[in-house]
Amino acid sequence: ETQVWRVDPNAPDLEHTPQIIAAAEKLVQGEIVAFPTETVYGLGGNAKLQDSVRKIYEAKGRPSDNPLIVHVATLEQVRDICTEIHPIAKKLIDTFWPGPLTLVLPSRGEVSNAVTAGLSTVAVRMPSHPVARALILASNLPIAAPSANLSGRPSPTRADHVFYDLDGRIAGIVDGGETGVGVESTVVDCTTTPITILRPGGISKEQLVEVVGAVADDPGLTRSDQIPKAPGMKYKHYAPQAMMYLVPSGKEKICELVATEKNNGRRIGVLTTEENRDSYPDADVVLVCGKRSEPATVAHNLFDVLRRFDQKNVDAIYSETFSEEGIGKAIMNRMSKAAGGRIIE
Ligand code: TXA
Ligand code: MG
Repeated sequence: ETQVWRVDPNAPDLEHTPQIIAAAEKLVQGEIVAFPTETVYGLGGNAKLQDSVRKIYEAKGRPSDNPLIVHVATLEQVRDICTEIHPIAKKLIDTFWPGPLTLVLPSRGEVSNAVTAGLSTVAVRMPSHPVARALILASNLPIAAPSANLSGRPSPTRADHVFYDLDGRIAGIVDGGETGVGVESTVVDCTTTPITILRPGGISKEQLVEVVGAVADDPGLTRSDQIPKAPGMKYKHYAPQAMMYLVPSGKEKICELVATEKNNGRRIGVLTTEENRDSYPDADVVLVCGKRSEPATVAHNLFDVLRRFDQKNVDAIYSETFSEEGIGKAIMNRMSKAAGGRIIE
């Protein structure tokens, strides 16, 4: 049975509250527990214990060749896990940690082989969410944690998303309310020169460039003839049950598509923004993912909206698209995966 511990993320001295102590005890015993981070909920286990890490893969139905991120609360924990933190990695740490940035660094072999899926590198991140930090400190462990969804589903941004996917499969869920950023961390490979973005996320390329100058993008992210360097990026992900289509040209085209589909007797959903919420009177379901003028709100709501479409029984979803500036890059990466790459020009 899956326990739920409710916590107020703003409560003082979280590390010593009964709920966090209970969740940390489970981790110490080798069980796996979901918890909020500033990006999405993670499904955590002791990164040094093979058996715990196995449980994570099993609960998610995750392919074993897809390595996990190790979550830490101190630099001492990073030094224990990685052989070196070179000056550029150190600069990123000083600027963006704690926060939504994951660094791929050379592994010391201290964490379980299952965490790194046999690679010589390990992905490490120091989350800023007070509940995540408290749980890591209370357990005194490096915590391996992928997003706490069933493999292939949208990442969870609320405890009830986790419950829906993993009830009965994990020891517990620390419910600290909605996450903030809403899309996952940016994954940066620090073993290349220049550093390479393996997954766009909560810290934008523009922000990274400002701090370290040169930053490359993994060509595998955009080119179909290259395999992504982050194994997770090659999988189908975030997909709602209905076929989703991105429509970059926007409102008029979407209205035209809705009209045609309605003639064929299909039930149609539109994924839109605050600014355009009244533009699709003929659609069966219109869901708003945020304000176009405030992309952070779109990132915050995106996965929840994708999950809500599954409750609405639509046959297809037509979606507006966004500029790839800043956080827009991560938004469009997740949206095009949710749409399985289907774009209607
Ligand atoms: O925001 C986040 O990063 C969330 C929260 C829970 O921290 N976690 C998350 O984990 O998104 P996950 O497992 O869903 O995604 C981790 C990504 C995958 O694409 C994986 O392939 C990649 O990081 N990755 C992990 N270790 C790697 C390594 N050593 N080299 C290259 N890619 C790696
Ligand atoms: Mg994930």
